[in-house]
Amino acid sequence: MCGIFGYIGHRNASSLLVKGLLRLEYRGYDSSGVVVKNGQLQSYKDIGKISEMATSLPEFKGSMGIAHTRWATHGGVTKENAHPHLSNDGKVAIVHNGILQNSDALRKRLKRAGVQLNSETDSEVFCHYIAMALEEGKAPLEALQSVLSMTRGTWGVCVLFQEYDYVLCARNGSPLIIGRGKDEMFISSDPHAIREHTDQLVALEDGQIAKLDAHNFQVMQTDGKEVVSHLLQLEEEWGESELGEYPHFMLKEIHEQSQSLQHCISGRLRHAEGTSVLGGLQVQPQELAQLPHVRLIGCGTALHAAQIGQILIEQWARIPAVSHVASEFNANDPVINPKALHLAISQSGETADTLSAVKEIQRKGADVYGVVNVVGSSIARQCGKGVYIHSGPEQSVASTKAFTNMVGALALFALQLGRSRHLSKTKGKSIIREMRTLPEKIRAYLEQPGPIEQAVELVTKAKSVLFLGRGISSPVASEGALKLMEIAYIPCLAYPAGEMKHGPIALIEQDSPVVVIAPNDGVQERTLNAIHECKARGAKIILIHEEGDPISETADVSIPIPSTMPMLTPLLSVLPTQLIAYHAALALDNDVDRPRNLAKSVTVE
Ligand code: F6R
Repeated sequence: MCGIFGYIGHRNASSLLVKGLLRLEYRGYDSSGVVVKNGQLQSYKDIGKISEMATSLPEFKGSMGIAHTRWATHGGVTKENAHPHLSNDGKVAIVHNGILQNSDALRKRLKRAGVQLNSETDSEVFCHYIAMALEEGKAPLEALQSVLSMTRGTWGVCVLFQEYDYVLCARNGSPLIIGRGKDEMFISSDPHAIREHTDQLVALEDGQIAKLDAHNFQVMQTDGKEVVSHLLQLEEEWGESELGEYPHFMLKEIHEQSQSLQHCISGRLRHAEGTSVLGGLQVQPQELAQLPHVRLIGCGTALHAAQIGQILIEQWARIPAVSHVASEFNANDPVINPKALHLAISQSGETADTLSAVKEIQRKGADVYGVVNVVGSSIARQCGKGVYIHSGPEQSVASTKAFTNMVGALALFALQLGRSRHLSKTKGKSIIREMRTLPEKIRAYLEQPGPIEQAVELVTKAKSVLFLGRGISSPVASEGALKLMEIAYIPCLAYPAGEMKHGPIALIEQDSPVVVIAPNDGVQERTLNAIHECKARGAKIILIHEEGDPISETADVSIPIPSTMPMLTPLLSVLPTQLIAYHAALALDNDVDRPRNLAKSVTVE
C-alpha cells in the first residue's frame, strides 16, 4: 500500500526513481511523483499511472531523490494529494506511507501558526513541521525526531533537504529497506525493487531512523541512540519480474503456477519415509505430544489458503485446527494457548492486519510461524521462523500463484504433522506421489482450459454470481468469488453448498450464473442437491468437476479438470476460477493488473 523509492549516488536519480516506482506499482497506483535535488528541490507529480507521470516528467538533473506511488487513504485522488509534499519554502520534501491518526490536530496547529496547507493529506504535516524546526535552528535529525515525537500512527517516511546532502528516513509500522551499492544507496518499501541493484540490504525496524548519503548509512533509535543493523540474508528467488510475452501479469502468473508449485515442493518431499521436510517448520516431538490445536491466520486469498490448510491439518494430522480473518483477530481479545501452533499466511509479508495478529499472539506468549512469499518481509522477520512458499515475484494485484503455493506449503506441513502422528507411511507415500504429479496436471489443464468463454459470457451479463463448494471446495468457491469481484467488479457471493438453501437461494432468478466446484471427493453427492435446487429455479450451472465424471451432465457449462486425490483438488479446481475472473475483467475492459481501489500490499489496518 503506497510505494517509496529513494536513490543517493552518482547516477541520474530521476530515471532510477521511475524504474523503482514501476517495480512498486502494485502497492498503489492512483498517483505518483518524484523529487530530485539539484541545488533546488525539483518536484513533479500527477494522478494516473506511473508510466503516464513518467512521460511528462521534466528532465531533472541530480543524483539524489525520493519518489512515491500512492494508494489514497486521507484525501481523494488529486495532484495536490499525490506525494512528494514540499514545505512552503521549498527546502524540505517528504514521501510517506502509513496513516497519521492525529493528523487533524496537527493540521489545525499548523493552520493556527499561519502555515499554508496544500493538500488534504495527513502526510503533508511532516514537511511543514520539519521546515519549522529547521527554521528554529534545529539540525535535520533533531527536526525529524521532534515531528515523530508528536505524531501518532504508522509511517515509512523519507525526507530530502535542499541544504543537506543526505536523506533521512524513519519507520514505524510501514516497511523501509535500505540497499547499499557501490558509492550509492537505495531506499525502498520492498526488497524486490532494490534486488536488481544490490543484495546488500538492511530492513529498518519499527522505531528506527536512518541517515544515508552515497557512501554510508547510519541506523539509530528515534532517540538518536545508534543501533547495529544486520544485513538481510535473502535467498535467490526464481522468476522474472518482467511481463515477457504475456499481456498481463495476472495471466503470466496463472501460467507460472505449474513451475511455482514445483519450486515450492522440490527438495521438501521424502518419498522413502512418506513425509515432507520443511526446514523452518519443524515441530519437536515433545511439543507435538502437547499440541492442543493449530490456528491459521490470513487475509483475502491468504485466508482462503488458511481455510484449506485447516482442513488438511485436521484430515491428515487429526489435530483440531481453525482459521481466522486476521483483521478480526485482535478485536475480541483472543485467548492464546502458548502450547498451540500459530501460522501467519501472507504473500507480501507486509499485511498490517496479519502483522498485528502476529504481534498479539507473541505478546500473549506464543510463537508464530510465517508462511510467506516475500523473503525478508516484515511478517517473516517478526515471526523469526517459518517457511517461504517460493512463488517468485507476484505482481498482479489479484493473487494466483501465491494461493497455489500457500496451499502447497500447507499441504506439506499437514503431511509432516500427520506422519509424526497417526498417518501411515503408505498414505504418506501416496500423498507424495500425487503431489509430484500436480505441476504437470496444472500445466496440462492450462493448455486446454475448457469453455471458459461460455462461463465468461454468463457472468459478465449477470447482476451477481453465486459460488458454491462443499468441504475443501468451499474455500475454493470463496477464492473464485473474491477473484471475480476484485478484477471484474461483479458482485459475487460464495457459500458452502449446503448453506445456500438457508438464504442465498433467494437471489436466484432465471439464468442466474452459479459456479459450482464439485470434485469427486466423497461430499459431491450432497453438492448435487444444491445444483438441482439452483437449476429448479432457472440458474445456469458453471460446473468445475473432474474429467470423465458423469456429474458433468448437470452442467450448463462443464469445465473438466484433471483428477487428483480429494484433499489436493483445490490446487486444480481454483484454476478455472482464476481464468474466468481474468477473461471477465478483459471482456469488461477493466485494468486486470491494477483493479480500482485496490493495492497489493495492504499496510494499513
Ligand atoms: C486477492 C488479494 C488480497 C490478498 C490480501 C492478503 O487477490 O490479493 O485479498 O490476498 O490482501 O495479502 P497478503 O497475502 O500479502 O497478506
